[in-house]
Amino acid sequence: MTTHDVIVVGAGVTGLTAAWRLAQAGQDVLVLEARDRVGGRLRTEAHGAPGREADFEIGGQWVSPDQDALIGILDELGLPTYPRFREGESLYVDKAGVAHRFGDDLPVEESTLAAIGQLTKTLDELAAAMDPARPWELDDAAHLDSVSFRAWLEEQCDDPVAVDNIALYIGPAMLTKPAHAFSTLQAVQMAASAGSFSNLVDADVILDRRVVGGLQRVPLALAERLGDRVRLGQDVALVEWDEDGVVVHVGAEIHAAHRLVLAVPPTLVKRIRFSPELPAEHRIAREHQSFGLVIKVQAQYETPFWRADGLSGTGFAPWQLVHEVYDNTPEGEQRGTLVGFVSDERADAVGRFSDEDRRRQVLASLATYFGDAALEPLTYVESDWQHQELTGGAYGTSFDLGGLTRWGPVLREPLGPIEFGSSDVAGHGFQHVDGAVRVGDEIARSILGDGSDG
Ligand code: FDA
Repeated sequence: MTTHDVIVVGAGVTGLTAAWRLAQAGQDVLVLEARDRVGGRLRTEAHGAPGREADFEIGGQWVSPDQDALIGILDELGLPTYPRFREGESLYVDKAGVAHRFGDDLPVEESTLAAIGQLTKTLDELAAAMDPARPWELDDAAHLDSVSFRAWLEEQCDDPVAVDNIALYIGPAMLTKPAHAFSTLQAVQMAASAGSFSNLVDADVILDRRVVGGLQRVPLALAERLGDRVRLGQDVALVEWDEDGVVVHVGAEIHAAHRLVLAVPPTLVKRIRFSPELPAEHRIAREHQSFGLVIKVQAQYETPFWRADGLSGTGFAPWQLVHEVYDNTPEGEQRGTLVGFVSDERADAVGRFSDEDRRRQVLASLATYFGDAALEPLTYVESDWQHQELTGGAYGTSFDLGGLTRWGPVLREPLGPIEFGSSDVAGHGFQHVDGAVRVGDEIARSILGDGSDG
């Protein structure tokens, strides 16, 4: 049996970036991917009536200007991008379900706007003081990790509309958990990972551009370069390990290597059996991680009808089933596509409905933004990551209350020949493809011995 230099488990962006960097450095690498495709949480699918199908990105898709690791690899792979359509006014649906058009400032009371401004300033200051790769080192980290984000917001501010809007940005819209379910420290890390809270909540920053042909082209291009070093349909079930290396079992096949990269979300490490077992803290740390839950919904129409009405397609509604919506029409496409998100407890609720009832409710929610024209799409597509065993939710994983300070440092700790990583354990780019590229790069550098986390 050949002993490879490195085996990488998982052909998402993290695993493929690590593998490509190692291969470029002359290492003998083998990538084992359980699915019959590469890309993990990046996936483009064709949907629509026969002969009129269109491509829909059902996983990650946006690129922001500060994501320099992702932009670097897009340049390296020669993958062009285009901007999200954003001309015209945005919409804000208030608590009573009434849609209001707006330009720069949310159409809320002056006092609410001021309260949002104050909370934004406080969160920006906290994020600026934090290294997102080491959030537990922030002054007051233990306290901030013991208070839920919602409780902290309510302590800071007595304007419930301001609290609900700020809670929306990091709860349903980012960690995809209710704001009472994660700590303030976890919220600040999310903000710090994007450079600032202001960046994170600015759709023109965080949802700036898309890749021509879809973001899945990044893992596809990396896999093409790696060639037959990537093997699909290889669900790794058992890892035998000692200080000298690993033997990896896939069904009846075994593969040996000096080093192993487990490029899977922390929640999926427990699907693999280890001999000897992982030390208790490695298992327990990952038990305190969980995926958020968001259903990405896309509705394609004969035309982007909202544009003719002077609307950008961007909308926010903290109290609606679809809490945010954007124009998701690919460049050069005549038909118009809206993308919306149903998150956290609302996703639990509609998840129990029949497909038809869920579609009806989602489209009714889109109609509160855009009127009855939104009720009759040509094509309607829902992402279903929560049903896929090899993901288990969306967008990523995060800690429950207190977990970040207690267990955070363990997640990236190597164990003998084993390195662990995915976008869920990134500092900058946490839960984003940019973070996956960074973690992949860092792991490759660590294995090559030229510094660990950069
Ligand atoms: P990922 O989960 O992609 O890869 C892990 C791989 O390991 C998978 O291919 C899996 O099959 C494989 N695997 C698991 N267990 C295995 C085993 N035992 N043996 C072999 N293989 C195994 N990001 C962004 O930057 N912009 C965006 O707009 C969005 N939007 C977005 C929307 C939705 C709906 C989702 C689900 C996600 C996003 N994201 C995003 C997040 C982004 O997609 C995500 O952070 C990265 O793609 C994660 O890449 P990783 O390689 O870290 O994990």
